[in-house]
Amino acid sequence: MAFITCKRIVKVYRVGDHELVALRGIDFEMEQGEMVAIIGPSGAGKSTLLNLLGGLDTPTAGSLIVGDHNLLDLKGRALANYRLRHVGFLWQKIDRNLFPNRSALRNVTLPMMLAGVPPWKRRKRARELLDAVGILDQAHKRPVQLSGGQQQRVAVAVALANNPALLLADEPTGALDRATAETVMDLIDELRKEYGLTILMATHDLELTRHADRVLTLRDGALGQELGKEEETPQFDTEGRLNLPHAVQKQLTEAPRISVEIRPEGVLLRPEIDEIDDTEAILQDMLPQDAPPKALNGRFRLFRRRKKHERTKAEV
Ligand SMILES: Nc1ncnc2c1ncn2[C@@H]1O[C@H](COP(=O)(O)OP(=O)(O)O)[C@@H](O)[C@H]1O
Ligand SMILES: [Mg+2]
Repeated sequence: MAFITCKRIVKVYRVGDHELVALRGIDFEMEQGEMVAIIGPSGAGKSTLLNLLGGLDTPTAGSLIVGDHNLLDLKGRALANYRLRHVGFLWQKIDRNLFPNRSALRNVTLPMMLAGVPPWKRRKRARELLDAVGILDQAHKRPVQLSGGQQQRVAVAVALANNPALLLADEPTGALDRATAETVMDLIDELRKEYGLTILMATHDLELTRHADRVLTLRDGALGQELGKEEETPQFDTEGRLNLPHAVQKQLTEAPRISVEIRPEGVLLRPEIDEIDDTEAILQDMLPQDAPPKALNGRFRLFRRRKKHERTKAEV
């Protein structure tokens, strides 16, 4: 059985008197010990998904199971316990990971203190972890006395303090330069082997995805379809033609036209279908009955499909 099972996850945020759909039906599974990278542009819903998996927020619909925990059933103390002992977080913003007035050592002992680990035991484990992240000699320094890379190493030790099975990393190296980012990623690789961690990492840095076993792409709150492993990888023939896997062809053959876009994450082939734009009707259904129609203004453009005539030349 999969370690993480995420089924038809929908997350709708209420912003003032209108609603914003951040995730629109996410389905995926992860095996124990797997490392998966989620890539996607800013606003795609990556952080939202990580927050749901970390028990920091609840989905609007769908089901979410991590190990033995059905996250939709967890409330109060059980939820706090899940967050404290079963998941570790690593955030992009370095100051979100660490308390500025505590030394590196006391940052690492804090989650253990909250979990009721006796003092001698937590100091011992904190020293082991700081050693594992290569920073034991800086144990008594406060974050401000450490470099960004060193702080992120301490943050990794904090995330692993209570021995969680799952590490959620939200753009963990986003605030670091390339070389430092690579050393932090190498560290994560090492610790993953050592502690048998399952890791889900959001990033918009394609370079980092080579550390992952698998990559999911997220755009506008929806996952790109993964191709089955049995599908042949596309290859150019001698004429320079690309033979696309059957599943991809099926997506495209019925379209009257196909648009090609070069994006930072790769090349996007998109079927151009003359659709009726029913987004407005769908959104109107989702609003409370007494909401005035003007509630759709503002954020609306964020998720309305652009009509064909509105697309730029490059896309057509
Ligand atoms: N707490 C919130 N309240 C309202 N809207 C939010 C909230 N968090 C995120 N959003 C919106 O949800 C969408 C997805 O955001 P996010 O998950 O942060 O994307 P990413 O991490 O991929 O950049 C964005 O449109 C964002 O503005
Ligand atoms: Mg984010």
